[in-house]
Amino acid sequence: MLEMVQDRSSSFTFFLNDRPVEVRGVPGTTTLLRFLRDHLRLTGTKEGCAEGDCGACSVALLEPGPDGKGRYRSVDACLVFLPMVAGRHVLTVEGLRDAAEARRSPEAGFHPVQQAMVEHRGSQCGYCTPGVVLSLFELCYRDDVQGSDLRRIDEQLAGNLCRCTGYRPIRDAAVAVAGLRPSDAFRLRADEARFEPPILSYAYTPVSDPPALPGQLYVQPGSIEALWQALEEHPSARIVAGGTDVALEVTKKKTFPRVLIGLEALSVLGRITRLEAGFEVGATVRITDLQDQVGPVLPGLEKMLRVFGSRQVRNRATVGGNLCNASPVGDLAPALLALDATVVAASASGSREIPLREFFPAYRKTALREGEILAAVRFSDPPDGAFFTSYKVAKRREMDISSVAAGMMLHLDAEGRVQLIRLAYGGVAATPVRAFGAEAALLGRPWTEDSVRDALRVLERDLHPISDVRGSASFRSRLASNLLFGFYAESLGPDRDRLADRPTGTVLPPSTPPV
Ligand code: FES
Ligand code: FES
Repeated sequence: MLEMVQDRSSSFTFFLNDRPVEVRGVPGTTTLLRFLRDHLRLTGTKEGCAEGDCGACSVALLEPGPDGKGRYRSVDACLVFLPMVAGRHVLTVEGLRDAAEARRSPEAGFHPVQQAMVEHRGSQCGYCTPGVVLSLFELCYRDDVQGSDLRRIDEQLAGNLCRCTGYRPIRDAAVAVAGLRPSDAFRLRADEARFEPPILSYAYTPVSDPPALPGQLYVQPGSIEALWQALEEHPSARIVAGGTDVALEVTKKKTFPRVLIGLEALSVLGRITRLEAGFEVGATVRITDLQDQVGPVLPGLEKMLRVFGSRQVRNRATVGGNLCNASPVGDLAPALLALDATVVAASASGSREIPLREFFPAYRKTALREGEILAAVRFSDPPDGAFFTSYKVAKRREMDISSVAAGMMLHLDAEGRVQLIRLAYGGVAATPVRAFGAEAALLGRPWTEDSVRDALRVLERDLHPISDVRGSASFRSRLASNLLFGFYAESLGPDRDRLADRPTGTVLPPSTPPV
C-alpha cells in the first residue's frame, strides 16, 4: 500500500562518487545539477543551457542494463530530478581521479579519459571539459564501441558543445578511450552492482513562512498496483519517466507540479519483447535501449533514433514520454505511424489497444482516459521486401526539434504496383499525421515518378503546416514534398544502403530534377 510517511520517507539517499548523500528538505523537482552546485558546492559540473542542449552538466549514472548488469550512462544533470537517482550511484568529475594517487603526486591518479584529454590537448578554457570527460567516461566503459567506430564516437559526443578547442582533439581523445573498459574500481563497481527498485514517497514541506514554494510530493511506486493506487489518490498528478521534457517545464517555464508520480521503479514497463513478427516496447524503455535492441532489426527506425537527441538525452528519454507529450514534432511518432504501431493503454480496470493513428486527437492531446497510462507500444516487422525509412530535418540535426520529420513504408507487388504505402509526418499539422490522401493516390499504381508527382499534388491537401521559428508553412510544405520525392528516389536504390547514413538527406541524386 502506498503511504506518505512524512518523517521517515521524506528523505532518500543516493551515492555520489565515493559517499552516500542524504536528500531532505528540497523539492523533488530540484534538478541534480542544482543540487550538486548549490547544495553540495560541487561546481565541477557546469551549467551552460540548463535545457539539455550543451552537455556541460554531464554526469555518469550507474544503471541496470538490459542484461541486469550495471553500466554507466552519461546524462544531463540539468534534466534529472533528484528522486530519479534515489539509490543510484552518480559520478561527477570530482570523483574520477584516484585520491590516494593524487595525494602522492599532483601529476598522478587521473582517470584514463582525463589523461587522454590532456594528451590530445582536448581542452582550452575548460568550461565544457568536465561534461566532455563524463561523456568519454561512458564511452570508455561501453562494450559496443571501439576506437575505429567513428560514427558511434561522434554520436557519443554530439551532445557536448565546445566553443574553443575544436572537436578534432576531443575526438582523438575519444578514439583513444572508446571501449577501453579498464579493470579498475569503476568497472568492478558496475560488474558487482545490485539494483533495488527505489520505491519512494518523498514529501517536501516548506519551512519558511510565508513559504517560497508550496509543498510537493514525489511518489515512485514499486508495483503496478501501487501505481493505480497513487493515480487514484492523486488523479491530477504529473506522470514522469525519463523527465527530459517535464524537467524543462520546471526549469524553463517555472511550473511547480504539486504531485509527481515517477515510473523509474516499474521495471515491468521497461522491457522490450520480441514478438513472433514484431516488437512490444514498454513505455519506459530508453531511446538508447530501443536503438540498441530494435535498431539492428529496423534500420529505418534506428536512423531516426540516432538523431533523436544527444546521447545524454537518449539515455533518459523514453518511448512513452515522447508519445505522451503529443508534440506535433515528436521524433518517434512519424516512424511508428509508418509501422502502423498500436499503443497499449492500461489502467486499474484493464488494458486496451489504440492504433497510434488515433492516439493524437488534437494538439498536445492523447486518447488516454483519466486513470490510464501508456504501458507499451506494439508494431510488426515490415513485410518482406518492403522499404521502410525515416527522415528528420532540423537546424541542428541531433539536438534540435524537427522542422519536419517523416516515416515512410512502401511495399510493391510482383508487377511493381504499390500494394502498401504509409506516409507519416511530424511538423506539418497540429498532431503527427498520416497523409491518407497521398497514400490513396499511390495505392495500386505503378511506383513511378509520374505516380509520385500526382501524389505530391494531393499531399498538399493532407497537410496543414504553420509558420513558426523553425520554418514557414510554405517551407514545411516543400520539405514534406521533397521528403516524399526523396523517398521515391531512395527506394530505387542502388544507393539505398549508403543513404541510410544520411539522416536528413532529401536524397535527390544530382540527375533528379527538383520538385
Ligand atoms: Fe546544458 Fe545541462 S546545462 S545540457
Ligand atoms: Fe572552452 Fe570547450 S574548452 S568550451
